[in-house]
Amino acid sequence: MKIKNLITAVILFSSGFGILNAEIIKLDTDKTSMVFKADKGKKLKHLYYGDKIQDSDLKNLTSAVGSGATVYPDYGMITVPETAVAMIHSDGNMTLDLRVEAVEKKIVDGKDVTSIILKDSYYPVSVKINYKSFPEQDMFETWTEITNNENDNIKLTRFASAHLPIRKGNVWLSHLHGAWGNETKVEHEPLQHGMKIIKNRNGTRNSHLAHSEVMFSLDGKPDENNGRTIGAALCWGGNYRLKIDTDETKNHSFIAGINEDDSPYNLKPGETFVTPELALTYSTEGLGGVSRNFHKWARKYKLMHGDKERKVLLNSWEGVYFDINEKGMASMMKDITDMGGELFVMDDGWFGVKYPRNNDKSSLGDWMVDKRKLPHGIKGLLKEADKNKIKFGIWIEPEFTNVKSELFEAHPEYVIKPENRTPVYGRGGGQMVLDLSNPAVQDLVYTVVDTLMTNYPDIDYIKWDANMDLTNHGSQYLSADNQSHLLTDYHKGLRKALDRIRAKYPDLTIQLCSGGGGRANYGLLPYFDEFWVSDNTDALQRIFIQWGTSYFYPSIAMASHISAAPNHQTFRTIPIKFRTDVAMSGRLGIEMQPVHMTLDEREQTRKAIADYKSIRPIVQFGDLYRLISPYDEKGVASLMYVDEAKENAVVYWYKTKAFRNEILPRIKFSGLDPEKRYTVTELNRIDTKPLSFEGKKYSGTYLMSSGLEIPVNHELPKDKRTDWSSRVLKLTAN
Ligand code: DGJ
Repeated sequence: MKIKNLITAVILFSSGFGILNAEIIKLDTDKTSMVFKADKGKKLKHLYYGDKIQDSDLKNLTSAVGSGATVYPDYGMITVPETAVAMIHSDGNMTLDLRVEAVEKKIVDGKDVTSIILKDSYYPVSVKINYKSFPEQDMFETWTEITNNENDNIKLTRFASAHLPIRKGNVWLSHLHGAWGNETKVEHEPLQHGMKIIKNRNGTRNSHLAHSEVMFSLDGKPDENNGRTIGAALCWGGNYRLKIDTDETKNHSFIAGINEDDSPYNLKPGETFVTPELALTYSTEGLGGVSRNFHKWARKYKLMHGDKERKVLLNSWEGVYFDINEKGMASMMKDITDMGGELFVMDDGWFGVKYPRNNDKSSLGDWMVDKRKLPHGIKGLLKEADKNKIKFGIWIEPEFTNVKSELFEAHPEYVIKPENRTPVYGRGGGQMVLDLSNPAVQDLVYTVVDTLMTNYPDIDYIKWDANMDLTNHGSQYLSADNQSHLLTDYHKGLRKALDRIRAKYPDLTIQLCSGGGGRANYGLLPYFDEFWVSDNTDALQRIFIQWGTSYFYPSIAMASHISAAPNHQTFRTIPIKFRTDVAMSGRLGIEMQPVHMTLDEREQTRKAIADYKSIRPIVQFGDLYRLISPYDEKGVASLMYVDEAKENAVVYWYKTKAFRNEILPRIKFSGLDPEKRYTVTELNRIDTKPLSFEGKKYSGTYLMSSGLEIPVNHELPKDKRTDWSSRVLKLTAN
């Protein structure tokens, strides 16, 4: 949200930087343009967002609503439409009348930032609307800065990040909904009259139930490869509200921002409220094109170390849960090393002195090693990891405490809790949220990481968890007048702590976890390397969950682990081949106790890890093409990654249903070079006979137009056959 590295600042109402004349502002990326009409003293109007247009077309540009729809609709003088900003002035007046004052152009972090400054026609209040362009990824980030120059406080009651008018037509909305263990279910629906609201009110986490990212297909029913499509993501870790109002005007009004419910924000004289960014992209290549733009932008700008390969890891949670002990950790480390892994992560259960963490009822906040479980402490574990030539990682949940903890006993004032109320507790019946609006708590959270890393600089990876909603609205730190700041200031405070952590530990790998996929958002991801997609590790259900997640998030960020059979969440028994093939399509890891694995499971996992290493750069940095959606219920799901040079690709194919004599669709590949010839090799193979196309060469044209017929079942001895079937194919140009 902050503007860093200011290089130039030019106030202009002249040509240059894409500003053609006094009124028209054109912002370009490589393939898209966004155009505004900014007449001084008038409302700022939106004219265009879509394919890149020539300057010569600008003068004749017409918009759906005559001279254009208002870019940042303000409340008060025209009271009927949905508005993006509203406030109560210090004298009680509830109206705004924002008009264009100036246009600024800066270069920030090497990117063009265009700012349009609006001023109220009477009150000394200004709103700066910013657009940062990412040309190669066809992405804009837009956010606003609302400044109070009155003599007394103003109260912001609405403060959206942005409003985007979308020309009415057969426009469809695609969005993600779900629940814990069933995150990111894809939903598509046509926009019809009325209001569609997608929102979150959890307080701490925001993506279990819905996502703050959406796509709009402008040419009717969403298509994976074709059609003009807009993608939008609100970069915020807290409560959000995305509204799409389809009223009598010629536009759908899309308004996105922090959820203002229970959160009016007071601005003192001279203060500025900065909204989170809304990221916008546009593609003519349908949903897939929008996803690829998001993935490229994320890897380059919105994810820590997006250009570095991720390690294959074993995480201890589903293997031993809270049963942490030195012998067990050492044995897991040896086992993951034997299978070819590169990192071991010790999950929950390692800490607590006065109160040992044996279950979820105590100890959060007491980040001291439990020497009864680990007599040689973390040093001992690091030594063990070193002996195995792997790296070591550790779990923390620093934003929370338990009532049964030394931290709470010493600092009951650190928890979020209103006066005069008996608190509602979270996980385990005693968990509470620490008040990150309080600078002392921000410092505490920073110190949790800093102490660990100072004492044990060899820790390579931290799993940062968050397992509770923000209940008990009440800050013991904020003043009585500012209690409504809590839901916003919690996240501002969290970012402050993370800024400090990243300033000191830029190389540390940190996973963002939240009882599974509760924190897949671009507000927090810039501080993290990856996120735990779901607590549900069932391979079949993961195909659906990871499919939805891939709409906006790149595979390199998606932690995807092989787990035990029967699965701990669905109790389904899935063969190891299918489990490994699904996990291999994201950031591969393992989530089970190796000592309980059969020889066959170990062997297949070892093979999968070795094969994964051979395709890791393609999976983690390649372009994603979704070929057949599991949501289309065709009995099959398929996706592929293609590297930038279109030299190498990996194709995943999963049978999602089993019927005798079923006819499954042939797989037509995507994203290849039609002129190149590709050799097909099966990876992670279990069949006794190679596939008919094994080792054969096909042109990119053939693979994309005709595709390959994948056999429905595996070729196996009778006693090894199951109703599960999956394939991983590598394509190599030569
Ligand atoms: C919830 C996470 O999603 C799990 O992976 C695990 O880390 C537990 N918390 C530990 O309490």
